[in-house]
Amino acid sequence: MDSIGPHLVPTKDGSSTLHSSVYNAHYHSIHGAYTESMHIFINHGLRDYLADKKKMIDTPINIMEMGLGSGLNALLTAELIDQQKVDYIGIEAHPITEKATYLSLINSLPHALDNKLIESFWDTPWNTPTKITPAFTLEKRHGKIEDLELTPSSIDIIYYDAFAPECQPHLWQETIIRTVLSWLKPGGYLLTYCAKGSFRRTCKSLGCRLESLPGPPGKREISRFVKERKKS
Ligand SMILES: C[S@@+](CC[C@H](N)C(=O)[O-])C[C@H]1O[C@@H](n2cnc3c(N)ncnc32)[C@H](O)[C@@H]1O
Repeated sequence: MDSIGPHLVPTKDGSSTLHSSVYNAHYHSIHGAYTESMHIFINHGLRDYLADKKKMIDTPINIMEMGLGSGLNALLTAELIDQQKVDYIGIEAHPITEKATYLSLINSLPHALDNKLIESFWDTPWNTPTKITPAFTLEKRHGKIEDLELTPSSIDIIYYDAFAPECQPHLWQETIIRTVLSWLKPGGYLLTYCAKGSFRRTCKSLGCRLESLPGPPGKREISRFVKERKKS
């Protein structure tokens, strides 16, 4: 747990992010926290995945987030879905402990989120899947991704939102990534802001197709990996 909790920092689109003095890293892009989350995880993740599958999926889709942090990606996901059920697990090694910090970040977004959703997210107990809207079940998992165990081929979309390879190199290397990708269903997506060549090569060598997409402001490219279906 951070001895000094992360502190709020304004970003260029008016929304706030957090800065961790422990990792010396921002939680989101300083060019726009909200813009980045929407662009990478919501638009090129959830929206594209649902469009790609074309029809409404009857069974819940499973999303795993590496680095739940402020909960911004989880809340934007919960806000977007309506009929489509989502089971969401967000792993976080160092949960934010100051509710005021969480509220300040969430209330800095360009539009107001539903207050009940904001409160439910915070109140949901850790390590317990909890329905926080009729369609959205959230499990805030306290722990390290290194220790997470999930069923192979069970996850539709992974939001891989770790701190940068310069801060936490092992989280972008083959040992962890092999396990993370084993959780993805064939045809599933892994989204990340990271476009580093060695990381991209690792994912490709582990059976994923790379889709290099234009980034949000301040970032030329982002990465979407689609897990290849096994050839029969
Ligand atoms: C880039 S921030 C994620 C921002 C978050 N998605 C949000 O919207 O606020 C990376 C997060 O990973 C967490 N973290 C660092 N090491 C971790 C680990 N080994 N396992 C799980 N979480 C970790 C950090 O505490 C931080 O919250």
